[in-house]
Amino acid sequence: MTDPADLRRTYDRGTLDDGAVADTWLEQFRRWFDAAVADPAVPEANAMQVATIDAGGRPQVRTVLLKGLDERGVVFFTNYDSAKGRALAANPYAAAVLLWHAHERQVRVSGPVARVSAAETEAYFHSRPRGSQVGAWASPQSEVIASRAELEAREREIAERFGDGEIPVPPFWGGFRITPEQVEFWQGRPDRLHDRIRYVLDGADWRRERLAP
Ligand SMILES: Cc1cc2nc3c(=O)[nH]c(=O)nc-3n(C[C@H](O)[C@H](O)[C@H](O)COP(=O)(O)O)c2cc1C
Repeated sequence: MTDPADLRRTYDRGTLDDGAVADTWLEQFRRWFDAAVADPAVPEANAMQVATIDAGGRPQVRTVLLKGLDERGVVFFTNYDSAKGRALAANPYAAAVLLWHAHERQVRVSGPVARVSAAETEAYFHSRPRGSQVGAWASPQSEVIASRAELEAREREIAERFGDGEIPVPPFWGGFRITPEQVEFWQGRPDRLHDRIRYVLDGADWRRERLAP
């Protein structure tokens, strides 16, 4: 087996200079996100890991897809009754990280979380492929199920129930928005002297600071 301690890479693909960084976290995020999307070497540029704290105070983390980005924050969609949905009901704060290996960059976002509006959820749900809409109804996300066959039977039953008609948004499904209080941009540099620039919400204003790597 490979000893993970033997794995070593030099990060030298870019820099994050104080003079070049954007004035706002959103503009900086968009620059890096657009660069990631444009590069075929970055698969699923919108994959992000979201950490939550459950009612027992334990952290949990999982990957979701970033589906909305504006000055209000970052949005993902999920099952509100899932483990993450229940954790967010108990502790409405989350931290997210997007890692773009090929660019040696990560972005971290943390802050309070709230459900997006019903209109936002409606608009996104109906933009999804029909199979995904059925899947949202069919999966009691995070519950223990007896078998794969049970899931597929539920899928068939839901597909039959809605026929060719419009599939409504499941009442237990929708978006969450993390409204950032902090956003940190990390660019790998040689000798582990990476660049870290953090935007911090300070009252009504944003402060920008450099962190030691
Ligand atoms: C690349 C990738 C994208 C995913 N996107 C989503 C997503 O957008 N929403 C979602 O609920 N789960 C998504 N998942 C599944 C979650 O990682 C997780 O298994 C699921 O949401 C249940 O998490 P929970 O039990 O902590 O609530 C994705 C998984 C991967 C690997």
